[in-house]
Amino acid sequence: RYWNVQHGDEREIAQHISEAALLLQQGDTVAFPTETVYGLGADATNTAAVKQIFAAKGRPSDNPLIVHIADAEQLGSLVQAGSLTSHHRILMKAFWPGPLTIVLPVIAGSLSPLVTAGLQTVGIRIPDHPIALQLLRESGLPIAAPSANSSGRPSPTLAAHVHDDLDGKIGGIVDRGATGVGVESTVIQLVDGELYVLRPGGVTAEQLQSVLPDIRLHATDHEEVEAADTPRAPGMKYTHYAPKGYMHIVQGDDENEVSARIQSDVDAAKARGESTGVLTFEESVGKYRADLVLACGSLARPETIARELYAALRDFDHKGISYIVAEGVPESGIGRAIMNRLLKAAGHQRIRL
Ligand code: TXA
Ligand code: MG
Repeated sequence: RYWNVQHGDEREIAQHISEAALLLQQGDTVAFPTETVYGLGADATNTAAVKQIFAAKGRPSDNPLIVHIADAEQLGSLVQAGSLTSHHRILMKAFWPGPLTIVLPVIAGSLSPLVTAGLQTVGIRIPDHPIALQLLRESGLPIAAPSANSSGRPSPTLAAHVHDDLDGKIGGIVDRGATGVGVESTVIQLVDGELYVLRPGGVTAEQLQSVLPDIRLHATDHEEVEAADTPRAPGMKYTHYAPKGYMHIVQGDDENEVSARIQSDVDAAKARGESTGVLTFEESVGKYRADLVLACGSLARPETIARELYAALRDFDHKGISYIVAEGVPESGIGRAIMNRLLKAAGHQRIRL
């Protein structure tokens, strides 16, 4: 099924959402937009339904899913009473609905064990998107929803991306056009009164610190996490977001040095017969010669880079680019999430000048 809810009157849209909600209640999978990326949803209490998510995505079964709810009252039936601290409440008040996933102790038996991948905790968020919220309310269910891409591919920011990856493998797609933030939610956990960012995302470390100024904040060092035997967020250890071509990142303080290095890498690859691509920003797009030079947002407004990143990575595939060099971004604000995804897409191959 395909529901276009980009146009049409409210009644028509409500009708489409009801149909999608019914499919979820019947134990099928439905892809839907959130403010971050499209999610592939299923009833989080129904193991047969959740199984279909893992099957459609080809997702490893030890990687738990985020549970989406419509309002904080639903928490009572999912997470252990007494586990919510004043810090949790401050974060929920500040960032829900929004791109913040909070990991909490789960009530045993309240969700399919596949959702938590055997952990005693569950990651929960309220998405800040009118269609997602309507669908959650209408279904009346906690909805497990990872990003609606094939495992390892860039996450989908358009319904067309979902279609490209999962057509024929899922029950339906609700299409509301492009998502907003463009990278996934920030996943956090409070342990002994300290805050751990398990995955950087739409809510920045600076924003978290500003509402909890007195708390110790551990922003994820991806290299450290990559090297650790047991990463805190199981998803952190997998190759992710990768285009089909080879990719590396070039970073440095001197922009002329960076662009010269990128161009010489591209020229060398071209000479070897590669089809070449450069992932850069509006400010620098004129500097490069390659088969495909993409301006992914503007360095002056890093939120535009986040919004356009995954579609850009997919563009290189569509154009059959076999060798990609990407410019890095400063790792502050949303830049942390951008660099986290870029590094994963590049298999952590980075040249620092
Ligand atoms: O923005 C988002 O978060 C999107 C939209 C659809 O909501 N969803 C998403 O889900 O990105 P997914 O499954 O692609 O990523 C979930 C991340 C993984 O890194 C996973 O390991 C982590 O959250 N996670 C989930 N439950 C966890 C838990 N109990 N403890 C630690 N990490 C957990
Ligand atoms: Mg994902």
